[in-house]
Amino acid sequence: MSPLAVPSPATLLTIFGATGDLAQRMLLPSLYGLHRDGLLHPSLRILGTARSSLDDAGFRELVDAALRRFVPAGFLDDAAIAALLDRVHYQPASLDDDASMAALASRVSSLRSGDVLYHLSTSPSFYVRACAALAAHGLAGPGTRVMLEKPIGHDLAEAIAINDGVTACFDEDRVYRVDHYLGKDGVQNLLALRFGNALFEPLWNARHIEQVQITVAETVGVEGRGDYYDGSGAIRDMLQNHLLQLLCLTAMEPPSQFEPTAVRNEKIKVLRSLRPIGRSDVGSETVAGQYTSGAIDGRSVPGYLDELGRSSRTETFVALRAHVDNWRWSGVPFYLRTGKRLPRRCTEIYLQFRAVPHSIFARGGAATQPNALVIRLQPEERIELQLMHKTPGLDRSGLRLSQVSLDLDLDEEFASVRRRLAYERLYLDAIEGNGTLFVRRDETEAAWQWVDAILDGWQQSQQAPRPYAAGTWGPTAAVALAERHGHSWRE
Ligand code: BG6
Repeated sequence: MSPLAVPSPATLLTIFGATGDLAQRMLLPSLYGLHRDGLLHPSLRILGTARSSLDDAGFRELVDAALRRFVPAGFLDDAAIAALLDRVHYQPASLDDDASMAALASRVSSLRSGDVLYHLSTSPSFYVRACAALAAHGLAGPGTRVMLEKPIGHDLAEAIAINDGVTACFDEDRVYRVDHYLGKDGVQNLLALRFGNALFEPLWNARHIEQVQITVAETVGVEGRGDYYDGSGAIRDMLQNHLLQLLCLTAMEPPSQFEPTAVRNEKIKVLRSLRPIGRSDVGSETVAGQYTSGAIDGRSVPGYLDELGRSSRTETFVALRAHVDNWRWSGVPFYLRTGKRLPRRCTEIYLQFRAVPHSIFARGGAATQPNALVIRLQPEERIELQLMHKTPGLDRSGLRLSQVSLDLDLDEEFASVRRRLAYERLYLDAIEGNGTLFVRRDETEAAWQWVDAILDGWQQSQQAPRPYAAGTWGPTAAVALAERHGHSWRE
């Protein structure tokens, strides 16, 4: 498609895996939110498909129950639910059963009145077969697009195989790879902060920034997803996608437009500028950890191995020091860290500026601390600029300085605006054919290439993840990783 061609809005959304956990918790509540606010075109139909042998009525019951369970009570409206259910249909299908796929194909054909969006909310191991089956039934041609959940594969080789298989049926500009972090308001606000203000951009580089930290901390454990998680670990589950996307948005050059090609061209340059971390430096630049039993919010929680019920060397925490080797960021460390069972839920980006070149207050003993900008994305959205301020007083024994914060509480600022689920934005964009907030093939593969080298280094070194007690900020080696370079993690 030429960059100027605008796809037509989809008239049918077909969700594979429509009875699954993600669908019930996130996808259906998101569609409800959009429907309730009048944001779905009246002609849009929603077709659920999965192996379960439900009919329309059975699926509508499931949708109704999921909405009543996962949509906040104050936002539920019986009339809106009923009207949403009117749009909803179901067709059982199994990739192993060609007759069922043929039946699905005829259902899609009868329900569509224009473009179709398929959302594969299934295990990635089904993506290629699902796309091939759609193509074989004439359902993958022009006017169709496909949305894929992460992870795209388990490593670069698998990602390439999946991408090859999917793009053999759907051209790349009709493939929408989800990273749900990109659908979050807070993450988009990072772009607004950087490119909607002239204030920060002149300072946003190695001359003025000393270090960057990106933290995605979770208090939850593996929550019944042990089988998936144990085959994945923190680096594949979180860092390869969410953290590297946050790194891209923090480090990229200004795109010329907020549109798919321009934004993704800038992100891929960042990923390709990441200095490889391989066998010789995984020991000094990365730390893997695994939680043991501990306490979170005063509640004791079991260790990872107890939750899993078997032994494992899978990491539930990773911290590393990355470098974006280009003019803008030369020499600036990007510390990335993510883990399960950390003391509090928090996603934040911390940029520490360089110290003043000379302190005129040093003789009086007053210490200055470097300025910092903290962009908190969740659980609450806030922006904090840390500044030095004179401590009030007559200063008879020398001027004293304190660090104070200019603190912008965005939840309070926009208290009257409903905070949307990430999938509300992502669905609306995919239905309308706008790929700006989706991940392009080259991004996924560049991210895997970088992560694969680390995984290879870990495997060669045969080092088991270091234990950390649940409710702490990871293994002490993670603290040492930053301190060796004169930095400390923000906690
Ligand atoms: C998912 C991971 O992609 O993101 C989960 O698979 C993780 O392990 C989740 O818990 C975190 O998402 P959020 O939106 O709760 O920060």
